[in-house]
Amino acid sequence: MAKRWTNDLGPQDVTPKSLYLDRRRIIAGIAGIGLAGMAGGAAGASTDLTPNDWKSITSYNNFYEFGTGKDDPAKHAHRLTTAPWSITIDGMVERPGAYALGEILSKMTIEERIYRFRCVEAWSMVVPWNGFELADLLQMVGVRPEAKYVAFETLLRPEEMRGQKFPVLEWPYVEGLRLDEAMHPLTLMATGIYGRTIPNQNGAPIRLVVPWKYGFKSIKSIVRITLTDRRPPTSWNKANGREYGFFSNVNPEVDHPRWSQATERPIGGGLFARRQPTLMFNGYQREVAALYEGMDLKRNY
Ligand code: MTE
Repeated sequence: MAKRWTNDLGPQDVTPKSLYLDRRRIIAGIAGIGLAGMAGGAAGASTDLTPNDWKSITSYNNFYEFGTGKDDPAKHAHRLTTAPWSITIDGMVERPGAYALGEILSKMTIEERIYRFRCVEAWSMVVPWNGFELADLLQMVGVRPEAKYVAFETLLRPEEMRGQKFPVLEWPYVEGLRLDEAMHPLTLMATGIYGRTIPNQNGAPIRLVVPWKYGFKSIKSIVRITLTDRRPPTSWNKANGREYGFFSNVNPEVDHPRWSQATERPIGGGLFARRQPTLMFNGYQREVAALYEGMDLKRNY
């Protein structure tokens, strides 16, 4: 099956260069795009973004299970045991069950995807993820026709996740996507960064990455995936529904009630790094706009 994803960011957007692994797959990906007749730069093409190195990606994190400070995850996430790990996939699927991560990975194709990452707090990075398409996993378990949404759940283990001892959020962290969003070829299950195993602070051993949505949709350390016909509750929406919606598509025209979303601060460029304009759907407009045709994106924030 030809991969339908496109990507305006290239290896030149990420450092260090010696660390790009799996170049052949990137090239194969580009060839696939060409074959599918989707060659060319994506919407909002720009290659002058501040590159992010391993250090900034793995030391400036949001992972409230380990504390609310940006450096808490890097400080405390080493306590998390990530093996053995399994994901329970249930609800409206043909083959529900607890799937060992190793079993899942043996059936998936790991690719490199260099994606923009935009947090709702108005900072951004560029991250070279390694992972597989969520669509491939859903296909493996068989989605029943009545399913309309996909719900995700993070591990609940306060002994190892010290932040879960505090009621900052309702634990476990939960997220959700509409089925068509989940099946979109840009939607990734990430298991690595820069070709290395994903560090605990970034959501080991497996996390979601939805590059056109605010970062909080990209739930970490996933232990359950449930197919359902009802819109699932999501952690930040439960915590403050007026500020955090279910869709949370990156949109420079719809401000957060307490700050503007028109620009963002690229991480890694120093404290005085110039803010850059935020792109509609985080630069993936061409790929995903059709999912929201006719929808009022202000109301459905
Ligand atoms: N997933 C869980 N389980 N817990 C969290 O606190 N934070 C979210 C998201 N996924 C979070 C989570 C937020 S707000 C962001 S911006 C991203 O993870 C941060 O991902 P990163 O630390 O890899 O940059």
